[in-house]
Amino acid sequence: MRNFRPNSETLYLDSCALMPGGVNSPVRAFKGMEMIPLMVEKGKGDTIWDVDGHSYIDFCQSWGSLILGHAPKLIVEKASEQLAKGTSFGIATPYEKNLAEIIVRHLPSIEKLRFVSSGTEATMTAIRLARGFTGKQVIVKFNGHYHGHSDSLLIKAGSGVTHLPEASSKGVPEELVKLTVSLPFNDLETCRDFLRSHEDIAAVLLEPVAGNIGVVPAKREFLEMLREETAKKGIVLIFDEVITGFRVGLKGAQGYYGIVPDMTCLGKVIGGGFPAAAFGGRAEIMDQVAPLGAVYQGGTLSGNPLAMCAGYETLKTIEKPGFYTFMEEMLEGFLGPIRKKIEQKDLPIALQSAGSMFTLFFGLKKVDSKEDLATMNEERFKHFFRYLFDRGVYLSPSAYEAHFISSAHSDENLQKAQHLILDYLDTF
Ligand SMILES: Cc1ncc(COP(=O)(O)O)c(C=O)c1O
Repeated sequence: MRNFRPNSETLYLDSCALMPGGVNSPVRAFKGMEMIPLMVEKGKGDTIWDVDGHSYIDFCQSWGSLILGHAPKLIVEKASEQLAKGTSFGIATPYEKNLAEIIVRHLPSIEKLRFVSSGTEATMTAIRLARGFTGKQVIVKFNGHYHGHSDSLLIKAGSGVTHLPEASSKGVPEELVKLTVSLPFNDLETCRDFLRSHEDIAAVLLEPVAGNIGVVPAKREFLEMLREETAKKGIVLIFDEVITGFRVGLKGAQGYYGIVPDMTCLGKVIGGGFPAAAFGGRAEIMDQVAPLGAVYQGGTLSGNPLAMCAGYETLKTIEKPGFYTFMEEMLEGFLGPIRKKIEQKDLPIALQSAGSMFTLFFGLKKVDSKEDLATMNEERFKHFFRYLFDRGVYLSPSAYEAHFISSAHSDENLQKAQHLILDYLDTF
């Protein structure tokens, strides 16, 4: 029945006349899935409803932003209270300090931070700051890692642009492409040699658990090497934890690996479903930011009070003892039987996970880098996605993305989705 969505279709076609592709972010257009995109009306907990009244168990959760699920009571109440007090001042408020305190308390690398409105702004400014701090120009990133859509970072990026070569977008100046070097993720030798043989590197920026080529954790020794080599040369090591921050654990991926970068970028979870992100790090680096220092950054809606309140209440909830154990157990309960069936039937599927995020890579046994995806079976993912969609389960609509659970996912819905996936694997 879900392939009969007349309201969605009309809304989509009307939207296409007004907005490129009918959407405000490319992956939402479902291009790779070759379907009319989902047009959503509302969400509650683990479920969303489209404009045709169909419900879907949501494993995208606003691309990982909603760790407590849709419209949690507490966030609705607190954000509503703030709504009545004013939505934006462009003036400092106590709510920024509250959220900053809780982030600094948990993230080992952050002594000071600055709030912005999107992950793109966070990474864009972090590399400007690294350049300002070091006086050097080159940025090293990794193939398939996505850091938002600023010019310098759309080079061999992941997520919606994984297919595109070199500069992942038209309009990125050649001069900037030359200043961003993209290396193979998890390739210890190549990356170490590169770092040792270049003197002009300002920053190494990476997702410590890649989420934009699907879930691909860094090898521990790879991260250790990056920490060691960057420290030796005064290169700023930046962890982009826009997805993993407060998602793979209370201390993010840096806590999981026990490796402290010089700077960290955050987003998604820290806004509690509202637009908020941040970059932070050692005080000596952060003090280079205006008004103290000469690296400029500003934003009319930065530190927006609604987002700060929602983020604060979210972090207060998830810092309670046992939250992450609960999330991990929930994911393992969901994935365990699926993993078992893949093993028993020796299926060509790599099921990879971290914290409360996971990906099934069809046609592959293990993925450590974007290069490993060369033989991935995208057609199979599309088939899988549509099979689940038709039966009321919504995954992130791309073979190159992570899927997420929230604390609001009910046992009943997890079991329903799990049985559908197990049935699907039986059709192999
Ligand atoms: C790791 C990572 N960094 C940065 C970004 C950009 O964040 P935003 O979409 O909020 O600009 C994303 C977005 O998905 C991301 O996954």
